[in-house]
Amino acid sequence: MSIKRIAINTGGGDAPGLNAVIRAATLAALNRGWECYGIRDGFNGIFFPERYEDNGVMRLTRDRVRGIAHLGGTMLGTTNKGNPMRFPLHMPDGTTREIDRTGEILEYFAKKQIDALISIGGDGSLTIAHALAKQGLKVVGVPKTIDNDLDKTFTTFGFDTAVSFATECLDRLHTTAESHQRLMVVEMMGRYAGWIALHSGISGGAHAILIPEIPFDLDKVAEKIRQRDEYGRAYSLVVVAEGASVIDGQRAVMAPAEAGQAERLGGVGEQVARALAKKTGKDTRTVVLGHLVRGGSPTSFDRLAALRFGAAAVRALNEGQTDVMVSLAFPNVQYVPLEQVAGRMKAVPLDCDTLTTGRDMGICFGD
Ligand code: F6P
Repeated sequence: MSIKRIAINTGGGDAPGLNAVIRAATLAALNRGWECYGIRDGFNGIFFPERYEDNGVMRLTRDRVRGIAHLGGTMLGTTNKGNPMRFPLHMPDGTTREIDRTGEILEYFAKKQIDALISIGGDGSLTIAHALAKQGLKVVGVPKTIDNDLDKTFTTFGFDTAVSFATECLDRLHTTAESHQRLMVVEMMGRYAGWIALHSGISGGAHAILIPEIPFDLDKVAEKIRQRDEYGRAYSLVVVAEGASVIDGQRAVMAPAEAGQAERLGGVGEQVARALAKKTGKDTRTVVLGHLVRGGSPTSFDRLAALRFGAAAVRALNEGQTDVMVSLAFPNVQYVPLEQVAGRMKAVPLDCDTLTTGRDMGICFGD
């Protein structure tokens, strides 16, 4: 069956480049004579049409996607609370149950005669995309996340922007830390993977980098700081990924998982700062970059990757593909089955050359 009408949605945390994917996919669809629609806020536009002036699904026209490729965020809105496979249903007795609402999505597509979905998201959204494909919907996924923790793609869009901004922050922290001879501990996002911390930490000249893949020993980090003091380098920068933890310790969690929502990490920076201040006696400050690394315009690398992904997703549908994710097999784009991606996390390999580069340069990884 040839395609006449498609829909696009964005799910999970936003990432710079989402609007570029929407623009390229829309133009590539319109140029094939297809109609294109955008679902608001993940799948909420379908579940709660009454909340939106446009009934939750907007027609994507050339005008609508003009001048958006350079903008951060997503023009469609997103949510990380609306997993349709485990949708939170609040009961009259105050408890919450999780229900499967994927059937409603399929019904909506059938009723509106929408032939396929381009789902732009991270691990959670792509797992949902795979489940919808298994139920018969034509779906192509596009890999998004600042965390870069998706498997089977060289990189996700959003990661380069996050790393570039975090690196700039480290550059700025060097001068103030050095002027005051301080220890600066910088906590960074990345969930259970250390990609952002590792790449920005090495690029930004951090002296220690703590990532979830390498449980750390703070005595080793304190020793590194003392050595620097001995060489006359009386300041140090320690980068800590939010998911990192001490050997045999627990991750720092700000808020536990709730129905339909993953746990929120955070707080390890302050824990590390307090312990290192005690061990080294240094004047210490903590900086949490938090959501700052998720905002702003995509770098040209992310923008181009996003535009290429958007157009490639439409080509995949045109070729009759479904249940696949567009991926970057540098320098080309390719398609990989969603089942090879869903539910799998790409951690930093301990033998990767970026990590080895850091070790060669004398950066401490807390091990
Ligand atoms: O997955 C992207 C990400 O920014 C993670 O790095 C971080 O742990 C999480 O999302 C934060 O989520 P929220 O926006 O719900 O605070």
